[in-house]
Amino acid sequence: MRLFEIVSHERIAPAVFRLSLYAPLIASHAQTGQFVVIIPSPKGERIPLTINQADPSSGFVTVVYQVVGKTTHLLSTMKEKDVLFSVLGPLGKPSHVEKTDKMVVLVSGGLGAAIILPEMYAFRKVGSPVVSVIGARTESLLLFREEFEKYSDTVLIATNDGSCGVKGFVTDALRDYLEKASSQVALVKAIGPNRMMEAVSRLTSSYGIRTYVSLTSIMVDGTGMCGSCRVSIHGEIKHVCVDGPEFLADGIDFGELEHRNTRFQRLEKEAFASCACYPDDK
Ligand SMILES: Cc1cc2nc3c(=O)[nH]c(=O)nc-3n(C[C@H](O)[C@H](O)[C@H](O)COP(=O)(O)OP(=O)(O)OC[C@H]3O[C@@H](n4cnc5c(N)ncnc54)[C@H](O)[C@@H]3O)c2cc1C
Ligand code: FES
Repeated sequence: MRLFEIVSHERIAPAVFRLSLYAPLIASHAQTGQFVVIIPSPKGERIPLTINQADPSSGFVTVVYQVVGKTTHLLSTMKEKDVLFSVLGPLGKPSHVEKTDKMVVLVSGGLGAAIILPEMYAFRKVGSPVVSVIGARTESLLLFREEFEKYSDTVLIATNDGSCGVKGFVTDALRDYLEKASSQVALVKAIGPNRMMEAVSRLTSSYGIRTYVSLTSIMVDGTGMCGSCRVSIHGEIKHVCVDGPEFLADGIDFGELEHRNTRFQRLEKEAFASCACYPDDK
């Protein structure tokens, strides 16, 4: 098997793919919460993707990604036995996992479910009880529901259209839960769009609950050199790629982060619109 060869690639939901590749060194060093930076083809850009699974015995590393623009689209056109141009990792700090008798509440929206899933396994492994709060626009878009139901002590669901669970957002399901059980909660983790993580942290801060979020910012090198991924926390500059991606939510300037994430939006839209060039690009 060749280094960075794709060993499996499947669509698991509309626009969401699971991809496994052969990267034995990354597989043997990866820890929960870390990510890789992938360049699919020599003409492609670098994209950070969280390690969903790493199996040191086979050397396989799995990522789950959503097609949102040019490079994720390019990745989605690649097939088993294709070889990725470059994969760098594992990057970032491992996320915080602790043993507690109180509840660990894991909140994820949309694709965030794929990123929070390894955290659920990690907390279970150390013996901490887990409440998973998952949300999506509609029931058919809930990712990894079976896994959450199998391994969490409690699963709370929110859908925007009310097709499953609470009608509304994950924050609505979380609010209902905290109203009844906030004293039983050790910590909350939220992974999803930055706006969703901001809303979760605003809610949990009113209860004084320690809250972690995994930030997504636009990255270039992924190793702390370019400054692209910077974020202000209590007025201090941090780099998501080397200081994170997980941070305590308190003091994060989410507004600035969101503003910085939209700085290439026009170019990104134009690039996505020109995706017809992909067969030649490979
Ligand atoms: C540490 C980290 C881990 C990530 N893990 C995953 C993952 O496991 N699965 C997954 O699908 N995505 C993940 N992302 C987001 C992923 O990197 C972007 O979706 C991807 O870079 C988009 O590339 P593109 O060329 O397809 O789209 P682009 O044309 O670059 O962007 C399309 C849209 O996505 C937004 N965007 C692009 N890059 C980012 C980013 N880094 N953070 C937030 N918004 C962005 C743009 O503002 C734009 O609105 C992660 C990001 C970070 C920083
Ligand atoms: S991506 Fe360059 S400093 Fe973080």
